[in-house]
Amino acid sequence: MLDGKRILLIIGGGVAAYKALDLIRRLRDAGANVIVCMTPAAQQFVTPLSAASLSGNDVHVDLFSLTDEAKMGHIQLSRVADAVLVAPATADLLAKMAHGLANNLASTLLLATNKPVFVAPAMNVQMWLNPATRRNVATLREDGVTFIGPLDGPMACGEFGPGRMAEPSDIVTAVAKGLASSGVAQPLAGKHVLVTSGPTREPIDPVRYLSNHSSGKQGHAIAAAARSAGADVTLVSGPVAIPDPEGVRVVHVETAQQMLKEVQAALPADVFISTAAVADWAVAAPASSKTKKTRGAPPPVLKLVENPDILATISKLSFNRPTLVVGFAAETDDVIDHGREKLARKGCDLIVANDVSPAAGVMGGDANQVHIVSADGVESWPLQSKAAVARQLVQTCAKLLEGQRP
Ligand code: C5P
Repeated sequence: MLDGKRILLIIGGGVAAYKALDLIRRLRDAGANVIVCMTPAAQQFVTPLSAASLSGNDVHVDLFSLTDEAKMGHIQLSRVADAVLVAPATADLLAKMAHGLANNLASTLLLATNKPVFVAPAMNVQMWLNPATRRNVATLREDGVTFIGPLDGPMACGEFGPGRMAEPSDIVTAVAKGLASSGVAQPLAGKHVLVTSGPTREPIDPVRYLSNHSSGKQGHAIAAAARSAGADVTLVSGPVAIPDPEGVRVVHVETAQQMLKEVQAALPADVFISTAAVADWAVAAPASSKTKKTRGAPPPVLKLVENPDILATISKLSFNRPTLVVGFAAETDDVIDHGREKLARKGCDLIVANDVSPAAGVMGGDANQVHIVSADGVESWPLQSKAAVARQLVQTCAKLLEGQRP
């Protein structure tokens, strides 16, 4: 269920901490590698030695431990895991998380992580129902934290109601389900994914150029999604105003010629996704110094030459052709028909066709509605964020690589 997944388990200080020991065992039975961090209060209920024996790993307790920090810094500790699980999550830990406090190792790891976070709350009924906790829970849900429980039932303090920690076996199931649906499963581990993004700039002279409105948002989101799916990613990007995605090798280029050269240099790749809006034409002979406006003279005439078609070039390689080649078709009308025509003409395996007429708001916007055109037919996806399109496209590529129909 959790084969090979690394789970950072943060044990908070509540009486339910004793159940966290059973949770470690069950997480391991499900195939996970469990790294435990305990708050100072948790150590009043269970010992680091028990957690170390059960997890088979060192247990981390101290923010300022020189030996721990020398072996693995706390930032790295929060990143090596595939997910962070807080069990039991006390009212105090939830409050710290909701407000971004970082005054012990557990809260620091929670603030520093960029991985999915799951919490299994356990506390007294009144503490759970207190408006302050209600606000913190709402904030954390909005931040994307997944809550597992709490359950209704008799509590150690003698009261009855919501506040009991979920059963360890249910926590394991919920984490496995959450990881599978968040795409943390790494179907592209060991694969090289090469992506182009953004526009190209074709110089007219040293200060002027021809270009287009591509923002790079879709291509960059695809590179990030491929990285999250475990791929080794190379992103060849034209000039854009957005940051490089984390964990991706980025090569910055300006012209279509440079983009082609860098794409060829990055081969071999398992998947090539050509998202860039490559300029169709370049200026035949860009001036080496700024072209002057001369009074009375007619405006200069630009002679254009066709740029290389990067997608078609890579699709038609007889040696080193990526297993899967994906192109985009940005169209303002007859989107699907143009997509079909492009699939055949460019020789790629999939075309992601989308409507870029100004009314659709795709160019530069954050949402996209695409049609996936392949030899098998056309699949239309709903309007969704470019990040969601990227994740779905990456999952589709992973399935095709495995030889399955998406
Ligand atoms: O022919 P058109 O520009 O509409 O094709 C779009 C697809 O082809 C996109 O995937 C784009 O990245 C790619 N393309 C390319 N090189 C060009 C023109 C387009 O790789 N010169």
